[in-house]
Parts: sequence; structure tokens; C-alpha cells
Amino acid sequence: MRVLGILSGKGGVGKTTTALSLGTALNEYGRRVIVVDANLLNPSMAVYLGQTHAPVTMHDVLRGESSIRQAVLLHHSGLEVVLGKLHPAEIFNLPKERLRDIIQDLRGMVEMVILDGPNGLEGSFHAVLDAADEMVLVTKPELPSLADTLRAKHLIEHRGKKIVGIIVTHYRGDFHDIKPENIEALLGSKIIALIPYDHAIREALTLKYPVVFSHPNSPAGLAYKKLAADFIGKQSKIVLQH
Ligand SMILES: Nc1ncnc2c1ncn2[C@@H]1O[C@H](COP(=O)(O)OP(=O)(O)OP(=O)(O)O)[C@@H](O)[C@H]1O
Ligand SMILES: [Mg+2]
Repeated sequence: MRVLGILSGKGGVGKTTTALSLGTALNEYGRRVIVVDANLLNPSMAVYLGQTHAPVTMHDVLRGESSIRQAVLLHHSGLEVVLGKLHPAEIFNLPKERLRDIIQDLRGMVEMVILDGPNGLEGSFHAVLDAADEMVLVTKPELPSLADTLRAKHLIEHRGKKIVGIIVTHYRGDFHDIKPENIEALLGSKIIALIPYDHAIREALTLKYPVVFSHPNSPAGLAYKKLAADFIGKQSKIVLQH
């Protein structure tokens, strides 16, 4: 079982969008995958999926009130997820360090677990780092985001964890975006996906579906499908234009 952490230095860069889209694409390629909301202080996957009343949440599991298998929920898109509790009172005094052992309870059930990480370097950043074997770092192609990504990268490397690569989101390819080759040079890591800035992602948010499901042929949908194909070493016929 592969456990992949989706992390970033800064909040609001596209981690949740990436976790849900990558998970959906892998699921459509026939891989059994579960996406877990591991943004424990600011869970948002439930809002993205329009399932704000999950009967069992990650927070119940962390408090020892349920097992993670009881918290797995099947979304209309076909994606299996574990959601967080949206009630603010639930986020205090959480035993975040239990995340690693809890995720291991999914062993034998799925091929891959994707952990949607926290807003930045605080919150459940270290819990995700402990629980996952490999990480991807999500960033916007802007200097403030890249500076924070560099800090996140150092923390991950300090823990001796593997970084699979960088996912650049909100990419417009105009004068103001830092060029992909410069991002790679600055971060010392490979870009594994360049996700274009795409209105379809906003539409998907309104529809409450992962963009890969609601807009499979949109520029962002195709970019996420290509990422998923690369992940599993599947030959992809998708040609992206930037
Ligand atoms: N490629 C994109 N094109 C356009 N909008 C995008 C793209 N990716 C993400 N967004 C939008 O950017 C916002 C932040 O995305 P998202 O919630 O996935 O980021 P996040 O890193 O998970 O945030 P947080 O750190 O708060 O959890 C959302 O409104 C989302 O719809
Ligand atoms: Mg998020």
C-alpha cells in the first residue's frame, strides 16, 4: 500500500483539488484508492464533495470512537473518501500523532492512500509527514508560494522522507508566472505536473464533483489524468498543450 502525502508550504494552492482529482483519475484507471482528509484543523473535502454530514469522520477515528474502515464513504463520483468533521469544536486536542497507525489499518484494503494535507507547515503537517511514505509538493508558480515550498521541502528532507515531485497549479504560462525550468532549479526537484489555471475547477466546485469526473476533458482534467497515468506507469495518450 502506497501512502502519498499532498503537502504545501502555503495554503490555498490546490492540494485538495489535487488530492481529489488524482484520486478520481486513479480510481477510473481501476486502482483502489482512498483519499483521506488529513487537513485536521481545516478539513474541506466534505465541502468540495457536498457531503457535509458524513456519519463517521476522521475526527471520530482519531478520538478512538470508530475505525477508519467505518469512516470510508463512497462519493457519487465513485471515489472512496474519509472526510473530516466540519464542526469547529472537534478540532481541539486531537491526537494527531495517531494518524500513522490509523492509516495502516487500511492495509490490504487499498492500493493507495492519498492524504490531503494542511494549509501550510503547521496543523497536521508533521502528522502527514509521519503517516506518508512519499510526498508531493503543490505550489503556485509565484515567488511567495515557492519560498514557502522550499521551507516545506527542507522539512520533508530533514525527516528523511521521499519527495516524488512538484505539482504546479494555477499555471497560466504568462509573463508573471515563474517559468517551470526556473521552479525546478529553485526547488531542486522535478515538476511532475503542470496544472493550468482552469475555470472548470470553479465549475466543479459548484457541482461538488472532482474536476476529473465533472470535466474530464477540460485542460485541468486532462492534466490530472496524465499525472495519474504517470503515477502508475500507465502509457498515456494524453498530449497537453501549454
Ligand atoms: N488549476 C486551478 N485553476 C483555477 N482554480 C484553482 C486551480 N486549482 C485550485 N483552484 C482553486 O483555488 C482554491 C484553492 O484550492 P484548494 O482548496 O484545492 O487549495 P488547498 O491547497 O487545498 O487549500 P488549503 O491549504 O486551504 O487546504 C479553490 O478555490 C480552488 O477551486
Ligand atoms: Mg485543502
